[in-house]
Amino acid sequence: MTQLPGLLDTEAIRKDFPVLDRLVHDDRKLVYLDNAATSQKPQQVLDALNEYYERYNANVHRGVHVLAEEATALYEGARDKVASFINAPSRDEVIFTKNASESLNLVANMLGWADEPYRVDDETEIVITEMEHHSNIVPWQLLSQRTGAKLKWFGLTDDGRLDLSNIEEIITEKTKIVSFVLVSNILGTVNPVETIIRRAQEVGALVCIDASQAAPHMPLDVQALQADFVAFTGHKMCGPTGIGVLWGRQELLEDLPPFLGGGEMIETVSMHSSTYAPAPHKFEAGTPPIAQAVGLGAAIDYLSSIGMDKILAHEHALTEYAVKRLSEVPDLRIIGPTTAEDRGAAISFTLGDIHPHDVGQVLDEQGIAVRVGHHCARPVCLRYGIPATTRASFYLYSTPAEIDALVDGLEHVRNFFG
Ligand code: ALA
Repeated sequence: MTQLPGLLDTEAIRKDFPVLDRLVHDDRKLVYLDNAATSQKPQQVLDALNEYYERYNANVHRGVHVLAEEATALYEGARDKVASFINAPSRDEVIFTKNASESLNLVANMLGWADEPYRVDDETEIVITEMEHHSNIVPWQLLSQRTGAKLKWFGLTDDGRLDLSNIEEIITEKTKIVSFVLVSNILGTVNPVETIIRRAQEVGALVCIDASQAAPHMPLDVQALQADFVAFTGHKMCGPTGIGVLWGRQELLEDLPPFLGGGEMIETVSMHSSTYAPAPHKFEAGTPPIAQAVGLGAAIDYLSSIGMDKILAHEHALTEYAVKRLSEVPDLRIIGPTTAEDRGAAISFTLGDIHPHDVGQVLDEQGIAVRVGHHCARPVCLRYGIPATTRASFYLYSTPAEIDALVDGLEHVRNFFG
């Protein structure tokens, strides 16, 4: 078995993930390499979800009975766990949403309804990048259509990195917000946050970071990042679906208006007007995803018990190995950085002129799960003149043997298509 320095004890870790034992297509061992789409869940998270519904299920913040108080303590306890996981200065800066898309839409809408000094109008500019997931493009297009603000973006270099050569022309005195991805879901690129934030701070622009592909894979410290908003989702980090996080700086959350109205987010309501609860509740209208938050809390306990620095080292070793092995496959072109430096564990590629959907299907027949398509980042495919890619992405339970299986699988694909 291939041994690489820095690898976790995957034999032990894999025992926590029941689905990894599955056979597919009758007798094929599952090789799950679609972790950037969603991660698998350890037994600890499945147990926490089950236990919540078996013992505590009640609505939160509303009841005086035992179950309601216990459910509230569990839900708010999950907020404490998230706050500590990302080193937030205050638990009140952690807003639960349904996913990272909702978190990013929330930021765009907070700004869309804001007064000065945050007001976005036809005199102002919004900055994103060409490597964003659609969830960090479309909300800003909507905001710019509604307000007349100009949408600008950083382009990409041929090797899959941000082209910051014109940073002073892109981020200007007119820029109100710069929103960009920390780790690209399609290219794997880890972006130079400090350089972008320094320029944004020079012109007094707010910064929003999409950390969906970072939070599951590396230590995340919102104070060190120095952004104003950080968005991520639970289901990519061993948690359930239906739970996302938006972290925002306290004074901004106090100043900015709510987006969704309803129960939970108010202080008082009359038929004429309402006043709002303090953050984070101001931004959590209606019954929140309670069980999902509890599940995310269990996922955070699980990841923390292993150590985010160790998970990062494991994935770095795997990525280095995968880049090397994939480079040996004839006709394979990696779309994105071709070294493991400053890149995450999602690797997109094309294989000659075989359509990625065909690659994915033949791999699937061998039990190998990858994602194919534009990965909700279609502008990246347009930039590199390709319709789609095949993407393999790894996590803490992935092994070098699975990378070997992928490489053998690709050899089979090449033979299959002659
Ligand atoms: N954003 C997810 C992905 O990249 C769904 O696959």
